[in-house]
Amino acid sequence: MNSCCFPLFIFAFVIFLRCLSPIEAATCHPDDEAGLLAFKSGITQDPTGILSSWKKGTDCCSWKGVGCLTNRVTGLTINGQSDVTGSFLSGTISPSLAKLQHLVGIYFTNLRNITGSFPQFLFQLPNVKQVYFTNSRLSGPLPANIGALSELGELSLDGNLFTGPIPSSISNLTRLYLLNLGDNLLTGTIPLGLANLKLLLSLNFGNNRLSETIPDIFKSMQKLQSLTLSRNKFSGNLPPSIASLKPILNYLDVSQNNLSGTIPTFLSNFKVLDSLDLSRNRFSGVVPKSLANMPKLFHLNLSHNFLTGPLPAMKNVDGLATLDLSYNQFHLKTIPKWVTSSPSMYSLKLVKCGINMSLDNWKPVRPNIYFYINLSENEISGSLTWFFNLAHNLYEFQASGNKLRFDMGKLNLSERLESLDLSRNLVFGKVPMTVAKLQKLNLSHNHLCGKLPVTKFPASAFVGNDCLCGSPLSPC
Ligand SMILES: *[C@@H]1O[C@H](CO)[C@@H](O)[C@H](O)[C@H]1NC(C)=O
Ligand SMILES: *[C@@H]1O[C@H](CO)[C@@H](O)[C@H](O)[C@H]1NC(C)=O
Ligand SMILES: *[C@@H]1O[C@H](CO)[C@@H](O)[C@H](O)[C@H]1NC(C)=O
Ligand SMILES: *[C@@H]1O[C@H](CO)[C@@H](O)[C@H](O)[C@H]1NC(C)=O
Ligand SMILES: *[C@@H]1O[C@H](CO)[C@@H](O)[C@H](O)[C@H]1NC(C)=O
Ligand SMILES: *[C@@H]1O[C@H](CO)[C@@H](O)[C@H](O)[C@H]1NC(C)=O
Ligand SMILES: *[C@@H]1O[C@H](CO)[C@@H](O)[C@H](O)[C@H]1NC(C)=O
Ligand SMILES: *[C@@H]1O[C@H](CO)[C@@H](O)[C@H](O)[C@H]1NC(C)=O
Repeated sequence: MNSCCFPLFIFAFVIFLRCLSPIEAATCHPDDEAGLLAFKSGITQDPTGILSSWKKGTDCCSWKGVGCLTNRVTGLTINGQSDVTGSFLSGTISPSLAKLQHLVGIYFTNLRNITGSFPQFLFQLPNVKQVYFTNSRLSGPLPANIGALSELGELSLDGNLFTGPIPSSISNLTRLYLLNLGDNLLTGTIPLGLANLKLLLSLNFGNNRLSETIPDIFKSMQKLQSLTLSRNKFSGNLPPSIASLKPILNYLDVSQNNLSGTIPTFLSNFKVLDSLDLSRNRFSGVVPKSLANMPKLFHLNLSHNFLTGPLPAMKNVDGLATLDLSYNQFHLKTIPKWVTSSPSMYSLKLVKCGINMSLDNWKPVRPNIYFYINLSENEISGSLTWFFNLAHNLYEFQASGNKLRFDMGKLNLSERLESLDLSRNLVFGKVPMTVAKLQKLNLSHNHLCGKLPVTKFPASAFVGNDCLCGSPLSPC
């Protein structure tokens, strides 16, 4: 063999080997295979076969939900999508997942029948950055040393049964940009050290049992876009440092707590805020004029507080699509002009708002985009007929406890209408046959008369009228 060709031959041989090797590289590492199979054996029921492709001796990188980089497992995604009872993946999460030493992301969502405590194996995984265990039945306390998972960027444990406090060491998770502990049974207070989590984009502690005041920790969170603290037992005022989130916050939900004081005037000029929910708290006093200055507002809920008027005229809120002012101490007298002229409004709830006007004088610019309307417990008079002729997409309409007066027999019900409550008004005439297609109906306590059409509704939907008869009331 010519000496010049020998190296070439070696080179070609190496190329040949290189070509073979990817086939071998694709086979997953024995540690990873062992860890995954141990996980599978901790699963007692898999009725929909989520793990059916996980078979010993086959390449684990090809198993459903397993992601590899070279021959090591880096991602594990198991999604129990079915809501059908009895079809859930059941069992516990094996600690052997610690063998997956190269794991970066673990995404376990909606595994509604998976039990056990906080997955301790995470502490043995040096590279883990994204952790999702959402909507399963994990329980017990969060580990006090959770701050040791210092590489974490995303931690989502929402929808479990975790109890006890939020560990103060969480302040060491300084790389977190997503923290979601919502829908658990956590107690205690928000740790002050949370202020260290300067990269947070999204923070959710909603629907727990957290209490005391919301600490004034938001000044350092210059990237926070979404803050959910609803459905806890927080009391006191909204902390002033929320004001520093003005340029970037787009979602703020502190509803269903025990917050009090006036709505702070610093809630103004939130340039990108699209959802503001302060409902079901103890906020009192006048709604500040500053609130009118939120150009991107889409959803505003101030219901169930002790707020008084005058309500500021919201400007530049063409995008406002859902508004709930119910159950405050407003005396609005009329449906506000800026509501009537809103081109985007599809959900309007103004229960018990002291509205004293005739619906004949209400001319919403786009009646056909309304989906939900609740005007109950006001003093609204007039007729619905014209509005129902235009509101082709209406899905629910409630106006119980008003003074509406019109001929029920002439009311056109939209194709889409499912729920109609006109109880305690002054409606007269006959009940039309078209109500039979509704899911919910209440016409009690009006001045209706005549034979009822055949429907599935109970007597309480028709009682208290002038002369209605036929099933479910007494025969004609
Ligand atoms: C949950 O798991 C238990 C025990 O493994 C099992 O008996 C039960 O049927 C499962 N429930 C559902 C809804 O899958
Ligand atoms: C955060 O980490 C540091 C260094 O590892 C440690 O000294 C400190 O105790 C931790 N903080 C908390 C609140 O656990
Ligand atoms: C809510 O706060 C008020 C005082 O503002 C207090 O009297 C009341 O007990 C609190 N309610 C709950 C459920 O904590
Ligand atoms: C407003 O909040 C209340 C209580 O938190 C809730 O019941 C209602 O559905 C909300 N309204 C809208 C339009 O989302
Ligand atoms: C509602 O308006 C009518 C007619 O304008 C008036 O007679 C009535 O007193 C008003 N009711 C209230 C509570 O303001
Ligand atoms: C509409 O308001 C009435 C009166 O408060 C209430 O009973 C009903 O639940 C409300 N309907 C909806 C869908 O919010
Ligand atoms: C009901 O709607 C139909 C079709 O839109 C229309 O022709 C009819 O006049 C309406 N009925 C009443 C009483 O307005
Ligand atoms: C109808 O409304 C009345 C009073 O507004 C209420 O007592 C009754 O339970 C309601 N019935 C149904 C079927 O919703």
